Amino acid sequence: MMEIFLALFLAALFFLCFVTILILNRNSFPLLRISRFRARPPLLPMGSLGWPLIGETIEFISCAYSNHPESFMNKRRRVYGKVFKSHLFGTPTIVSTDAEVSRFILQSDAKTFVPSYPKSLTELMGKSSILLINGSLHRRIHGLIGAFFKSPLLKAQITKDMERFVGESMRSWTDGRPIYIQDEAKNISFQILVKALISIDPAEDMEFLKQQFQKFISGLMSLPLNLPGTRLHRSLQAKKKMAGLVHRIIRSKRERGIPMVSSDVVDVLLNDSNEQLTDDLIAENVIDMMIPGEDSVPILITLAVKYLSDCPAALQQLREENMELKRSNDRLGEQLCWTDYLSLPFTQSVITETLRMGNIIIGVMRKAVRDVEIRGYLIPKGWCAFAYFRLVHLDESHYDRPYEFYPWRWQDKDTSSCNFTPFGGGQRLCPGLDLARLEASIFLHHLVTQFSWVAEEDRVVNFPTVRMKRKMPIWVKSSRLES
Ligand code: HEM
Repeated sequence: MMEIFLALFLAALFFLCFVTILILNRNSFPLLRISRFRARPPLLPMGSLGWPLIGETIEFISCAYSNHPESFMNKRRRVYGKVFKSHLFGTPTIVSTDAEVSRFILQSDAKTFVPSYPKSLTELMGKSSILLINGSLHRRIHGLIGAFFKSPLLKAQITKDMERFVGESMRSWTDGRPIYIQDEAKNISFQILVKALISIDPAEDMEFLKQQFQKFISGLMSLPLNLPGTRLHRSLQAKKKMAGLVHRIIRSKRERGIPMVSSDVVDVLLNDSNEQLTDDLIAENVIDMMIPGEDSVPILITLAVKYLSDCPAALQQLREENMELKRSNDRLGEQLCWTDYLSLPFTQSVITETLRMGNIIIGVMRKAVRDVEIRGYLIPKGWCAFAYFRLVHLDESHYDRPYEFYPWRWQDKDTSSCNFTPFGGGQRLCPGLDLARLEASIFLHHLVTQFSWVAEEDRVVNFPTVRMKRKMPIWVKSSRLES
């Protein structure tokens, strides 16, 4: 009897101690916290669904066109908190301006969220486009492309091509006319992208592809109506012509024999043994990959020039760092390689800060394939989740004076935090991120070591895509003549 009493007393004592420790130290026991929240069913976030059918889309778009595109989100965030509901582009949507919630959305796989794009865009993309597919085929294609874009061989090739195209472009710059940075950067980046995807050289079919691609993307933001004469129809016709060209290249590659060492994305996909990678799928993906790749890098370069023009101290430090690299390289009489360009810390900080301020991709949209609970919020099945990066990047609780271009803030700051996601994250993390940084580094190196400039007045437009209203005109003076 005594033993039983003692055992019960010890068990009770142990239980009491355990509970006391848990209460005093709740942070060490996350499971306990989760189960506390589990008791309460997740709630639909606060917010308004706006008008029937159109929801709050018109207000969102009119703010997006203004100088403060985040004002739509800011207003709601003040009233409802960092996560709220709305109704955008025809779908009830949960907007996240919270870095942790957005991270959860990015990290989730296709059992929880699938990509969601406007209808006109999905009409233009193929059904097997990397931007739309999910599951094992997506992982396969993403992995192959990501590994190829990271490879030192491709980076060396891109560095050589970039130096050649930048050299050709800058040699024609004279001081008697404005240079439109956005056009120059677009022209260079397009050639680099197409070479990385299908190894077309400028002399060959580049001009044809450029023209058709412009027709193709003009339908990305059109009415989803595919009838002769509509913009969407013209876009699809242009895509057909581009696919014809890619098929011709695939055929000639097959005839010549596919090299073991891939020199472009077509080689990479042709070399893979997965039977699902048919010629149609490869052609479609090559074209669809131009959509995220074409505009983003030139805009990164253009915005960097804009911000540097407005911040002489940053421009001076960037120039000193790059002049130092050029001088030491000239002394050794060697060619610069991709690691040289990427090793300049201040240049990388300038690019990182441009990505933070510029928000070239404002956020990503996903559709919930089941009811999802994140941090006590409910995202019902069929609703969209909009991870809005722009407000995280401009949040003063993450960044001091967030609207100021201040590259020095990155000197001892981590770029892998969930407060900084210009390239997205998770399974759909941008595979082109290294290329984007490399191209921007090379362009900036040649610009600041060869020219000084005066920028004309221009302003950033944020909708439907980020760009400069007047294409960023600058008046250059060659410093080669001065030295
Ligand atoms: C400054 C330049 C760039 C930025 C800011 C950027 C941003 C992004 C973002 C945010 C995503 C994620 C989309 C999502 O989660 O739904 C993405 C995906 C993607 N990006 Fe980029 N990108 C850039 C350059 C490039 C380049 C040069 C390429 C080269 C082809 C590229 C190819 C892709 C592809 C193929 C995807 C889709 C990945 C997938 O869904 O698996 N991007 N990009």
